[in-house]
Amino acid sequence: MNPKILLVYYSHTGRTAEIAHLITHTIGCDEEQLIPDSPIPDNIYELRRRILSRGIETSSKIKPMTHDITQYGAVILGMPVWENNIPAPMRSFLTATDWRGIKIHPFFSTGGIYVSAYYELCSICKGAAVADPLYLVYDLNGRFLRMRE
Ligand SMILES: Cc1cc2nc3c(=O)[nH]c(=O)nc-3n(C[C@H](O)[C@H](O)[C@H](O)COP(=O)(O)O)c2cc1C
Repeated sequence: MNPKILLVYYSHTGRTAEIAHLITHTIGCDEEQLIPDSPIPDNIYELRRRILSRGIETSSKIKPMTHDITQYGAVILGMPVWENNIPAPMRSFLTATDWRGIKIHPFFSTGGIYVSAYYELCSICKGAAVADPLYLVYDLNGRFLRMRE
């Protein structure tokens, strides 16, 4: 298997980004941030209204990536949980990628309610070997509470 590792993350309020940078610097892998093509509302109530009113249809276009995923044997995926599921920009990336032969290591930044996100990821990334998830749980003030496997 190709030994190169790429970390791909999406972060709306910065928590996933912080962990992503820590991992990147610790293991020395490449890093790619997913950037939405059009702005995502900062206001959480507006954002939640948009996600919930459109149901599971919440993919949003992302800017072109700078790394070529076919050059990597393993991909670390970092993202927040949105309404129990994967955030729209990450969903766009996952559905547009051919995951065959790639090993995925997912981590989620959450407020503590995250049952479906990992299973949604597994069902989208067909052909990948998906490792067990890691959850980083924060309180409402953004204070780190615990890590859960
Ligand atoms: C629109 C929206 C929906 C969210 N839904 C959930 C959820 O279902 N479960 C949960 O535990 N946290 C939820 N959260 C909280 C985020 O997952 C959490 O704050 C995360 O750490 C944010 O990561 P980020 O700073 O990288 O964007 C939600 C946040 C937003 C903005």
